[in-house]
Amino acid sequence: MRVAVLHGPNLNLLGTREPEVYGRTTLAEIDAALVAAGAEMGVDVECFQSNHEGALVDHVQKRAGEVDGFVVNAAAYTHTSVALADALAGVARPYVEVHLSNVFARERFRHRSYLAAGALGIISGFGAASYTLGLRALIEHLRRSA
Ligand code: DQA
Repeated sequence: MRVAVLHGPNLNLLGTREPEVYGRTTLAEIDAALVAAGAEMGVDVECFQSNHEGALVDHVQKRAGEVDGFVVNAAAYTHTSVALADALAGVARPYVEVHLSNVFARERFRHRSYLAAGALGIISGFGAASYTLGLRALIEHLRRSA
């Protein structure tokens, strides 16, 4: 089993970016924890970050044939990107939407997600742990539906 993790814009700055909101864990640390958690469950995990919407769309299209599902933190594109929502719908792979912060406890514009309707579910507000929780949820779903 193989899972792709997608990180959207500005998540490359984790560790120093608004640490009171997003914590101090770096993206490299999050990726390492995801690869380790995947390995414990016998799942290969690959991680990709881009600040560019089209690059994220390209990556979904490119990797969909090789992976069983996605864990997606689209960051600001969560709230704006029809293109990314269409890409995920178009490749028909299950995905879990994750956020470090609780987006529903923040500004109104963060309450809308273009990805949520197509997602298996959303995990939001547990800091870096949102990713590992999302990975576990996706793997459990994939195992149940295998
Ligand atoms: C985020 C929440 C988004 O609203 C924001 O634009 C981000 C990060 C999160 O992980 O909490 O960049 O997706």
